[in-house]
Amino acid sequence: MATLLYITAHPLDPQSSYSLAVGKEFIEAYRKANPGDKVIHLDLYKENIPQFDADVLRGWEKLRSGSSFDQLTDDEKSKVACLEAVVDQFVAADKYVYVSPMWNFSIPPVLKAYTDATSIPGKTFRYTENGPEGLLTGKKVLHIQASGSVYSEGPLAPLEMGYSYLNKVLQFYGIQSIEAIFIEGTALTSQKQAPAIKEKAIAHAKEVARSF
Ligand SMILES: Cc1cc2nc3c(=O)[nH]c(=O)nc-3n(C[C@H](O)[C@H](O)[C@H](O)COP(=O)(O)O)c2cc1C
Repeated sequence: MATLLYITAHPLDPQSSYSLAVGKEFIEAYRKANPGDKVIHLDLYKENIPQFDADVLRGWEKLRSGSSFDQLTDDEKSKVACLEAVVDQFVAADKYVYVSPMWNFSIPPVLKAYTDATSIPGKTFRYTENGPEGLLTGKKVLHIQASGSVYSEGPLAPLEMGYSYLNKVLQFYGIQSIEAIFIEGTALTSQKQAPAIKEKAIAHAKEVARSF
C-alpha cells in the first residue's frame, strides 16, 4: 500500500480553479485505480505551516547549540515541533501530487513555506564529502499547474519559475520521476479555447492517474 500526499496550494475550490478541477479529477481516477492506497489531502491554505521566523531560527539554533527541547520558549517549541511533523509526514509518503496556480510567474507563498518546511538536511537531503545528496530516491511527483498564458514553450518560457522551481528542489531531494500537467493559455484573448484546454488537461490527468 502506497501513501500519496495531495498537496493543494489554492484558496478557492475546484469550481473556481482550473488547477484544483484537474487535481480533483486526477485524485478520483487515482483512487479508483489504487483502492488500497492511502491519500492524504494537505490543503496548504488550512494547514498554517509556520514560516521561518525568529522563533524557528532561534529554536533551531538553541537545539544545535545543545539546549534541550524543554529549554525552548513555548512559541519556539510549537513551531519547531510543527515543522518537524510536516517534514516527517512528507518523508513518510511515497508519491506527491502538487496543485498550484501560477501567480506572478511562480507559486503561491503557502507553497514556498511548505517547500521550505520540507527542505531539511538529514530528512530530505544530506551533506556528504562529495556534496549534497538527495534522500528521497524512488519516489514520484506530479505537479499540476494552471496559468493564464503559455510557458511550456514560446517567448514566455524563460519566465516560468513555478514548476521549474519545484522541479529543481524535488530533484535535489533525489526524486527522479517528476511529471507535470499544465493547464495554460486560458487567459489569452486571441483564443476562446479555455474549456477545451481544461478538458484536455482532465483527460491527460486521468491517463496519468492510471499508471502513477
Ligand atoms: C495573483 C495572480 C497572479 C497571476 N500571475 C500570473 C502570471 O504570472 N502569469 C500568468 O500567465 N497568469 C497569471 N495569473 C493568472 C492565473 O495563472 C490563471 O488565472 C490560472 O488559471 C490560475 O490557476 P487556477 O485556475 O487554478 O486559479 C495570475 C493570477 C492571479 C490571481
